[in-house]
Amino acid sequence: MTTPYFKYRKNKLFCEGVAVDKIVKSVGTPCYIYSANAFVSQFKALQKAFKPVNPLVCFAMKSNDSLAVLKLLANQGAGADIVSVGELKKALLAGIDPKKIVFASVGKTEYEIREALTAGILFFNVESLPELAEIDRIAGALKLKASVALRINPDVHAPTHEKIATGTLTKKFGLDLAAAHDILRRREQFQHVTINGLHIHIGSQIQSVGPYVTAVKKVLNFLNILTQEKIFVQYFDLGGGFGIPYKNERLDPLEKFADRLIPLIDKIGLNLIMEPGRFISGNSGIFVTETLYIKDNGLKKFIIVDAGMNDLVRPAMYDAHHEIIPVEKTAAQSGIYDVVGPICESADVFAKARRLPHVQKGDLLAIMSAGAYGYAMASNYNVRPRAAEVMVQGSQFSIIRERETFQDLIRGEKIPTFLKSKD
Ligand code: LLP
Repeated sequence: MTTPYFKYRKNKLFCEGVAVDKIVKSVGTPCYIYSANAFVSQFKALQKAFKPVNPLVCFAMKSNDSLAVLKLLANQGAGADIVSVGELKKALLAGIDPKKIVFASVGKTEYEIREALTAGILFFNVESLPELAEIDRIAGALKLKASVALRINPDVHAPTHEKIATGTLTKKFGLDLAAAHDILRRREQFQHVTINGLHIHIGSQIQSVGPYVTAVKKVLNFLNILTQEKIFVQYFDLGGGFGIPYKNERLDPLEKFADRLIPLIDKIGLNLIMEPGRFISGNSGIFVTETLYIKDNGLKKFIIVDAGMNDLVRPAMYDAHHEIIPVEKTAAQSGIYDVVGPICESADVFAKARRLPHVQKGDLLAIMSAGAYGYAMASNYNVRPRAAEVMVQGSQFSIIRERETFQDLIRGEKIPTFLKSKD
């Protein structure tokens, strides 16, 4: 699946104005390659579609936390949806305005709460009563007033992979409506907290607007009850989750999301926050790997590449489909292959029984739609350094994160003295 930002010119895959093989010559493989203009265009498309309700778009940086990506989006006026103190610090370092940062997570630590309070973030998305009490206590000790939104679990099933569904009460996320109502009724008890908003996030890679409509209607009904009780809030945070095409899925277009949701958001009448991750980053990046070997065991043909599930875990973890295309198109006949990495796990597979053009040792393959939850979920499993990341803008490219070295991999490790002596 090529896009306007990753497409072939004379049989060579380009990212914007730069040939992918040219990047690989200077950076090596495996590497992530991002199109700056793809990020910006998705960000702007979202803002434009929802313009009538003027959202503050807080990029879910868990999908891609590279400083350069954050800086690029900060320059566009984006905020950040964060889930840890690490993300907070990176967002601030990239120049994201703390007044545009919202902080979700079912398990915020005291340190994280303190850091976010002193940074002056817009609000915490609170997921339980004990968490609210803890924020109240810490804010009191710091002589600050914490601003929070309650994360409602609307108990809405949004069809997606089980591991990325969040909106039902079988999941750990958010407060059921009764619990949220109870908290709001006794909000005076939490003297160092202002409950300023309601938040939902019903899951990820949601392909149709229906589940959002159901969830937002629930929020609307709830707000009507609160208004009757003279309980008022300022913000409605819709969360993230808008899906992207990975192959030829039939997704509701963004305009349909906007058409169905804007009237409801209008009725809600609060300041709107959105927390898209994948929608902005997913198709803004590819992952490039080199073919090491072709192995044919009589039953199957394997393309063994120099990248593994430690670099891109989505296929192994969610059976996710990523298109795989050659960096240089040839006229060669196609075959059916499993594309696998070198890691000692049967799950280390990028594609199963995939029809690909005949591939040879040294051929570069691009794994598409890798801008979200790609590098961000990479690990050092099998003592493998994490890949390099590159950003392209027009005809320029730059390494935005160096490939890790062996020294990076052993940093912080120590052999205890009791193991050092031989006797
Ligand atoms: N807001 C909250 C509170 C979230 O938990 C998430 C994602 C988002 C926003 C952004 O969701 P998005 O717009 O990217 O769908 N690793 C999985 C996805 C996990 C999503 C976790 N939460 C994957 O690779 O598919």
